[in-house]
Amino acid sequence: MEESVVVVGAGGFGREVLQWLRDAAAAGAGQRVRGFLDDTAPDLSAFGLDVPVLGPVDPGRLGAGDRCILAIGDPAVRLALAARLEAAGVRFTTLVHPSAVVAPSARLGAGAVVCPFGFIGPDAMVGAHALLNVRASVGHDARIGRAAVLSPHTCVGGAAEVADGAMLGSAAVVLPRQRVGEGARVAPGAVVHSAVPAGVLALGNPASWRRN
Ligand SMILES: CC(C)(COP(=O)(O)OP(=O)(O)OC[C@H]1O[C@@H](n2cnc3c(N)ncnc32)[C@H](O)[C@@H]1OP(=O)(O)O)[C@@H](O)C(=O)NCCC(=O)NCCS
Repeated sequence: MEESVVVVGAGGFGREVLQWLRDAAAAGAGQRVRGFLDDTAPDLSAFGLDVPVLGPVDPGRLGAGDRCILAIGDPAVRLALAARLEAAGVRFTTLVHPSAVVAPSARLGAGAVVCPFGFIGPDAMVGAHALLNVRASVGHDARIGRAAVLSPHTCVGGAAEVADGAMLGSAAVVLPRQRVGEGARVAPGAVVHSAVPAGVLALGNPASWRRN
């Protein structure tokens, strides 16, 4: 049966998520986008979309059959919204773009987003609401935490971990078996050779870090 999907966040990334849901539907995923929720009441008229903004991010705007997906790039906001909506009983769908390669033994939590050309290796675990942006790669046995954000072209090595709410900037690399702590941010192009503590900003190759 076709699933009715509501995209939370109607900014530029929301329009990307809409496109990818349509690509997935064309490939047979059975997801149909009913609209967006966004607190900023955005005007989408310039984009020629046939999908409305249904209102602010309020579970009362959702129908009984709707499932949500978060189209927001900030992991802290993803964590907070997911907690609020889940507490209200909202259910989430999972988006996997048809061009992504996901090992059958990999596990994805509800609300995870895997963008075009993503890769997830055997026995990797991707947490609820985690976001793998375009060409993000997650090696075998790796662990991606709840609402963690992997920006475009990031590479997480085998058996590495990116903990809950952490963020990897574009083209950042986490070497195999290394760990990025909860809420840490890794700058674009940085290479993580040793464990990054929770909450820090990690920069450079090899990455060093500073407290935020
Ligand atoms: C790295 C980042 C998280 C830091 O954000 P911030 O806390 O607002 O801090 P700033 O941008 O002011 O940068 C802090 C310091 O890090 C340095 N820095 C930022 N990006 C860097 C990088 N890629 N490599 C090395 N140093 C970097 C800045 O020069 C600055 O140094 P200074 O304090 O000595 O002047 C942010 O700049 C960023 O790049 N976010 C990810 C963007 C991204 O990849 N988005 C993907 C969208 S799809």
